[in-house]
Amino acid sequence: MENVTIKFEDSSDIELPVVEGTEKERGIDITELRSETGYITLDPGYGNTGSCESSITYLNGEKGVLRYRGIPIEQLAEKSNFIEVADLLINGELPSKERRGRFAALLTDNALLHENLKHHFEGFPWNSHPMAMLSAMVNALSCYYPVLTLTHRLQDLEMAAAILISQIRTIAAFSYKMTRGEPFIYPIPKHTYSENLLHMMFSLPHEHYEVHDDIKHAVDRILILHADHEQNCSTSTVRMVASSGANLFAAISAGISALWGPLHGGANQAVVEMLLKIHKGKLDVKKCIEMAKDKDSNFRLMGFGHRVYKNFDPRAQILKGLAVKVFDVLKKTDPLVEIARELEGIALNDPYFVERNLYPNVDFYSGIILRAIGVPKNMFPVFFAIGRLPGWIAHWHEVADNIHSRIDRPRQIYTGYTERPYVPIEKRS
Ligand code: CMC
Repeated sequence: MENVTIKFEDSSDIELPVVEGTEKERGIDITELRSETGYITLDPGYGNTGSCESSITYLNGEKGVLRYRGIPIEQLAEKSNFIEVADLLINGELPSKERRGRFAALLTDNALLHENLKHHFEGFPWNSHPMAMLSAMVNALSCYYPVLTLTHRLQDLEMAAAILISQIRTIAAFSYKMTRGEPFIYPIPKHTYSENLLHMMFSLPHEHYEVHDDIKHAVDRILILHADHEQNCSTSTVRMVASSGANLFAAISAGISALWGPLHGGANQAVVEMLLKIHKGKLDVKKCIEMAKDKDSNFRLMGFGHRVYKNFDPRAQILKGLAVKVFDVLKKTDPLVEIARELEGIALNDPYFVERNLYPNVDFYSGIILRAIGVPKNMFPVFFAIGRLPGWIAHWHEVADNIHSRIDRPRQIYTGYTERPYVPIEKRS
């Protein structure tokens, strides 16, 4: 691979190596830049910065391609299930029949929270946001599995992954029950992963929640579609925390907090809130589009736009089809669906959105589907987090397992005061 040369007026030129990935993406390796020239690069938001080399997920935003460990998301969504996808992401290969059975059994064996951990829920006010509880409880989980936190080069990744993937679902369901003042419902071993999530949320001691196979399937698809997305904000957070040698539970807890933001995993909640605002306020959809375009307004079209996808988001396309199926099975209609379709139709033909390559993203339809199933909107980002967990685990491991990895420590261009003396309080104005 050839080198590139950067020319400087006040320093000698530097030749830098070019790194090429398996999909022919190219990056300039600037590791020697500062020591050789005194310069650093400045890239707020990291739009042009590769923070690592990774073999987990490939994403081509121009072509709308997303592959986990080389396998297209469309094929996984059609043929696989969430637990198999989790194993694929974490271990790198589709599991054999024997391995798939073993991993599923480990998940079943570890689905129950330690009884003492249940008391933590009593410390939260009833109206706590479930993402706050999720992040806190996942961190608290580490106290119950100290052996799995002793070293950052985890020997038993499979066990830690099973505990986290299984218990995040139990925590999520229990936090929902806590906010409703309902008794916790325990998982049923013979249920599938998604079925158990819905069961623990919606069953009552005297009434078992019966769920249509297509709805279980839809939840499983949603989790698969969220399972990884290379170096997004929460995954980069997990990797950064991992780079300090922090344990898996601590890193995932930080990832959940990063995901909570409305520009990231909180966008599914924000989309439905936006649609409800339009519906309840009988707002004119065209005027909302104008507001989204107006730089003086703080209104954004939630569920639209993506840092990386500049053509279409393949996840959104699958979810759009899934939404039709779910509404069909449930024999339901929702006025928000009509508003969403109208917004989408206008935005996709509006030069503002077309020129900026702003398309519906994964969050545009996921909230609408979850709402139809009966999931309250503050739980939408929790479903995103459950789905994203295998990706976070895979990325944590990629960092922790790499003996060459260094602690992440970006630099900055300082823009504050230059040196000035300390002024005693009596002399300050
Ligand atoms: N509505 C109106 N204008 C927008 C929107 C939007 N949703 N998204 C981007 N723009 C405009 C933005 O104002 C800017 O215009 P200009 O060039 O005139 O200054 C241009 O498009 C580029 O936007 P940007 O903010 O520089 O893009 P970004 O890559 O920094 O941000 C984003 C990406 C997803 C945060 C942003 O598109 C956004 O805020 N979307 C709404 C929130 C959302 O749906 N987030 C979920 C993302 S997908 C799930 C996930 O991976 O987390």
